[in-house]
Amino acid sequence: SPSIVNVQEMVRCNLSFIPDRFKRSEEDKSKDVDLSVLSPQIPVIDLALLSSENVEELKKLEWACKCWGFFMATNHGIPEEVLQRVKDAAAGFFELPFQEKKAYSLDSNEMQGYGRPFMVSEEEKLDWSDSLILRIYPSHLQKLKFWPTTPADFRDTVEAYSTEVRKVAETLLGSLSLMMGMTKDALLRLHKDMAQALRVNYYPTCRNPDQVIGISPHSDASSISILLQDDGVTGLEIQHDGGWVPVNPVLNSLVVNIGDVIEMWSNGKYKSIEHRAITNENKARMSLATFFTPDTDVEIEPLDHILDPQGSNRIYKKVKYGDYLTHSLRKKIEGKTNLRFSK
Ligand code: SIN
Ligand code: FE2
Repeated sequence: SPSIVNVQEMVRCNLSFIPDRFKRSEEDKSKDVDLSVLSPQIPVIDLALLSSENVEELKKLEWACKCWGFFMATNHGIPEEVLQRVKDAAAGFFELPFQEKKAYSLDSNEMQGYGRPFMVSEEEKLDWSDSLILRIYPSHLQKLKFWPTTPADFRDTVEAYSTEVRKVAETLLGSLSLMMGMTKDALLRLHKDMAQALRVNYYPTCRNPDQVIGISPHSDASSISILLQDDGVTGLEIQHDGGWVPVNPVLNSLVVNIGDVIEMWSNGKYKSIEHRAITNENKARMSLATFFTPDTDVEIEPLDHILDPQGSNRIYKKVKYGDYLTHSLRKKIEGKTNLRFSK
């Protein structure tokens, strides 16, 4: 089974070459424009100001969602200790021997567990990463057989972080609703019962980081995603101005991005930006991505008040979220564009 490929184990066994299935072609890399020399930085949004409905901050949020699709969230209210503990718990899991981690192997029907998610074909190039995906909410999708019991506090710690990060998501959806000209509770209600999943990514070191990609370019099929990154190791890069901009981790800050669902609801006004993760030679990296999504039965389409009266500026078709998710996991990056009306 394809999910058997495990990069961490491969690197641990000190493989002296990079298997072809991980090697990216020159073509894959041809559109790489490295903007890191210019050091552009994603916008920084103060969530405490947003919570108090500060008008300037809300404007800044709108600019961030239109022009970047990504921002750094500060003053989010999650205690530092909660952030540190969840990073430690996740690191503790990845430090376990492979045999122990394997006990939590991915079940692709359930879309959770440890391994290599969403393989599309045997020919597909492989990412230089392993991950652990856990569904957090609704509770009936939380399957304890996928939850590591070592470290002993793993479950409590992940639950504590998940509760906190959900509050952050709700605050943000409130501000996004206001920004989109709706009442504060509008976006949360549109989700019906907002689902939540966690994906912990582990990127082992790579002796030739230029030949591989940690996570291939994609946009998130979520409404919003909230990322907690390792300190001191850069890996996330986002598309901006035609090139890749590295997102440097800032201790105790969260990285937020607008997902495909908000892009569709806003009829393309707010952008779900393509991003990827690269690896490095000397230091393994970890990140914890939390995805917030509508209930699978929710039909997603551009909101009426965003369209002009005849709807002639509409760029997205209506799609049931569950169908969109299946489709985008299969098609990856093409997912979103396929739903556009061809003009
Ligand atoms: C992701 O897109 O989920 C990966 C982000 C990261 O590791 O920084
Ligand atoms: Fe992503």
